[in-house]
Parts: sequence; structure tokens; C-alpha cells
Amino acid sequence: MRLGVNIDHVATVRQARGTNEPDPVAASFLVELAGAEGIVVHLREDRRHIQDRDLEILRKVVKLHLNLEMAATEEMIEIALKTKPDMVTLVPEKREELTTEGGLDVVNLSGELSSAIANLKTGGIVVSLFINPDMAQIKASAKVGADVVELHAGEYANAQDAEEEVAQLERLRNGAILAEKLALGVSAGHGLTYQNVDNICAIEPIEELNIGHSIISRAVLVGLERAVRDMLDIMRRVSA
Ligand code: PXP
Repeated sequence: MRLGVNIDHVATVRQARGTNEPDPVAASFLVELAGAEGIVVHLREDRRHIQDRDLEILRKVVKLHLNLEMAATEEMIEIALKTKPDMVTLVPEKREELTTEGGLDVVNLSGELSSAIANLKTGGIVVSLFINPDMAQIKASAKVGADVVELHAGEYANAQDAEEEVAQLERLRNGAILAEKLALGVSAGHGLTYQNVDNICAIEPIEELNIGHSIISRAVLVGLERAVRDMLDIMRRVSA
């Protein structure tokens, strides 16, 4: 199973100060060194974290699979066709949301999505749709010409008790089996953590996981001690 690491949060920290660090491009090198297979970034309409410049440089320097999450808007399609990520994952996007909240409603947006997908494919881009693990959405994804579906794991991740967790896991498993039958590639993401990822890894048709928040959160904590020591080393050298 492949891992795509979403590095949006690195850009979020940079944007909090409007400086040039930490740079998601530098983060992408560490993700590569650690052995992950992919880099995932979401270029949002409001540019709250990843910037156009990040995407342009990442495209030039990333040797891993580059997956661009974006809304199916004219502006974004134009950017994707220009920068040519390996994959585009179409997601629903609301300005006020903290993160992507639900899956795309492919059933009701089939016309719009068909033409967006056809357009992206003219650029040789593989297209994934981020959807809830519902049978109707999966069938509609195959119909509109998607190559891959990314199953939204958020309801599994947020399950309030063991019974609901088992039910959501079954929903993901059944969805993954159907998607595979329809010759769609299958990935999953959203809300996956060091505590809940094992069950998802056991779902065979799922080929790839896209994980951001949990990995970047751990990076902050496992890196903090070293960062403080590095600062103290400089201070003590100077004041010795
Ligand atoms: N997949 C998609 C389509 C997403 O929008 C996100 C969040 O940006 C993720 C995966 C990663 O989710 P998380 O940050 O909760 O790991």
C-alpha cells in the first residue's frame, strides 16, 4: 500500500507569519527520504496554505507521485493543465470550512464533473474523485470517467463507538470492493491517524492512503526537542 503525504499544514505554518519558512518544498524532500510514495497538496481557491509558487516548484523538483487536490473550477483546471501534476483529486470546497468536509456529490454533479475530467485527461493527468464510500457515488464516479476514487475515511475516523467504527469500516470495505470491480483505482484518506490506520490497511482493494494532519502533528512533536537543542547550542556557544 502506498502512502501519499499531504504537506498543506507545512504551508499553513509558513502563512501564519507570511515568511518563507517552513517551506513545503523542503518538507517534500524529507517525505521522499523517509520512503513515502507521494506528495499531496491542496491548492485552495483562497490560497490559505499552498501557493501557486509551491505547486510550480514541487512539480519541478518532486520525484514522487504528485497529487494535486483541487475544486473542479475553471481556474484550477487551467492551473492543473499548465503544471501537470501526476494526479488531480477533485474535492468539494467551501470557503468557510476548516478542511474538506464531505465527499463530492458525483451523482448530482455528473455533467460538470464529466467535462472537468475529460478536460484534465487531455493533459495526460490521472483523475481521482474524493467521495463518500457510497455505492451510488462510486458507480457515478465510474460513469463520469474517473480513474480513481479516494474514499472519504472521515466518518470511520470520527466514529463515536466500536459499533459505529465497525459499520463505517464495512462501508469502506464494500465501497473499495465495488470500486475495484468497476476497474477504478482505490485510495482512502481523511482523518487517518497512527491509532486508526491499521484497519484501513487491511482492506485489500485500497492501494493508497493520503494522510496529512496526523503526520504533520507528530512531526511537530518529534522534531521539537531537536529544534530547542539546536537553538540552545547556538546560544550557549555564543554566551560561553
Ligand atoms: N484526502 C483528501 C481528499 C483531503 O482533502 C485531505 C485533507 O486535506 C486528506 C486526504 C488528508 O486528511 P488528513 O489531513 O485528515 O490526514
